Amino acid sequence: MKVIKTPHHHHHHHHHHLLTIIFLSFSVASGGDGWQLLQRSTGVSAMHMQLLHNDRVIIFDRTDFGKSNISLPDGRCRHNDHAIKVDCTAHSVEFDVALNTIRPLMILTDTWCSSGTVHPDGHLVQTGGFSNGDSTVRTIEPCNDKSCDWSETPHSLAVGRWYSTNQILPDGGAIIVGGRRQFNYEFYPKTNIGAAGAIPLRFLLETTDAYSENNLYPFIHLNIDGNLFIFANNRAILLNYKDNKVVRTYPAMPGGHPRNYPSSGSSVLLPLKLPHPTEAEVLVCGGAPKLSFNKAKYYGTFVEALNTCGRIRITDESPSWAMETMPTARTMGDMLLLPNGLEVLIVNGAASGTAGWEYGRDPVLTPVVYRHYNPPGSRFSVHGAAARPRLYHSTAVLLRDGRVLAGGSNPHAYYNFSGVEYPTDLSLEAYSPEYLSSEYSKLRPKIFSPTTMDLKYGSLMKLRFSVGELSNNIGGVAVTMVAPAFATHSFSMNQRLLFLDCGKPAVMDGNYEIQAVAPDSGVLAPPGYYMVFLVNSGIPSEGMWVHIQ
Ligand SMILES: *[C@@H]1O[C@H](CO)[C@@H](O)[C@H](O)[C@H]1NC(C)=O
Ligand SMILES: *[C@@H]1O[C@H](CO)[C@@H](O)[C@H](O)[C@H]1NC(C)=O
Repeated sequence: MKVIKTPHHHHHHHHHHLLTIIFLSFSVASGGDGWQLLQRSTGVSAMHMQLLHNDRVIIFDRTDFGKSNISLPDGRCRHNDHAIKVDCTAHSVEFDVALNTIRPLMILTDTWCSSGTVHPDGHLVQTGGFSNGDSTVRTIEPCNDKSCDWSETPHSLAVGRWYSTNQILPDGGAIIVGGRRQFNYEFYPKTNIGAAGAIPLRFLLETTDAYSENNLYPFIHLNIDGNLFIFANNRAILLNYKDNKVVRTYPAMPGGHPRNYPSSGSSVLLPLKLPHPTEAEVLVCGGAPKLSFNKAKYYGTFVEALNTCGRIRITDESPSWAMETMPTARTMGDMLLLPNGLEVLIVNGAASGTAGWEYGRDPVLTPVVYRHYNPPGSRFSVHGAAARPRLYHSTAVLLRDGRVLAGGSNPHAYYNFSGVEYPTDLSLEAYSPEYLSSEYSKLRPKIFSPTTMDLKYGSLMKLRFSVGELSNNIGGVAVTMVAPAFATHSFSMNQRLLFLDCGKPAVMDGNYEIQAVAPDSGVLAPPGYYMVFLVNSGIPSEGMWVHIQ
């Protein structure tokens, strides 16, 4: 990590000798670039994860395979037509980050390979799934008293949605795009655009590979002009979803290889610079070469995954892909924007095979960090290995404290804990990026006031913070705002990071104050909850929840 180390830092080193020893003894758990096992068994494999603004992560799997490893509360059971008729186990849990505890939740219908967004008021809106749940919309309110649970409304979608992608829109509603054999999109809640139901999208039909599709869970990013960037297979369009018009067709990504499920690369919209960003870039990394799924399924051949990323400026009239090579090949990796705004973490996944049951091999344990502001050729670095393989049906989400929560991995149709090469994993681990290292304690700012904030678009926020050593480098202090994402199948829906327009820190009462301007529209920041971080020389503070509307 590039941080400015002043001589000052070294002078004082010996004075803190004792303190250093104490820090070191905890460094395995609290240091940077390391993994910590949080839960050996949550009872449920984390196929889907969403962080809510009360620092609870809602985790859920599918419901149609039989028993999980955690009972429903109060002796409750569900009756179903699947593997077992009476199932008294939970397929969803709430993880309390602060307390490191698990609470079982009750889902009735099947959430297999579904999607979601967070409503502007902070509740999770989950859509679709399989069979009896494919057109169900489920919601869960955040609560701090263990009282909340899922509520389900069947037949809420126009069509069944299995493997679709959701994106929260500037008005706070969700667009739900595609899904298996669904070459269309719809809105939830329903709007007057397409009130009659699903709106056709030929692009999804055109990008479907025979046999293995490779365009499911399309990568969707809300562009700064309000249109949607949609990437499927190896192609991309810019869609005006209101008029159902393709306003730009991007060149196919070089190489001709598919990047979406089951090829399963991942993608992020790179951070946007406010107040008035004029450009936006998308990064797509990894996946599996053409026909990998078929080779795994029919011939038991596990092809080496793709080791390339493509980067494109989606705001250009006629942009082209810049291709880069990752240090390791990876399919089923998760890409996360780290809160310092300087780094993209690529974590989880495998070096050969594809997504799909039993088709992944050679787990990649080492996270890779991509520094998007560095010149090409010096962007990637490889970091400390995780203990556990996280293959198909694994996920990762950013926590407010700057750690990344990783969970899941179940490449089997059932929960198989033994007798298989990659057992179903019910654990949760946290990855601490390098910026959490105690080496950077002095640089780590702490926002002490306010503790949360209600913002209007374009309003001014004043953050009071303390820090051991303030960067004197212009641009060395930044304020970032990060949307908590819905993670499943190697893609984080609604992930977004904004660099807020901010002034220079001023000294105030022995500490500092910085003023930052909230984004001025729902196009830049759809309404809802975000985490705001103060960043000093690349080291982020703990985040603060803010609500914008
Ligand atoms: C299943 O739950 C039991 C009891 O809580 C636990 O001992 C066991 O380790 C769990 N199995 C897995 C694979 O997590
Ligand atoms: C996985 O678990 C299922 C259900 O318990 C069982 O039928 C199947 O044989 C197991 N697979 C293996 C490879 O052990």
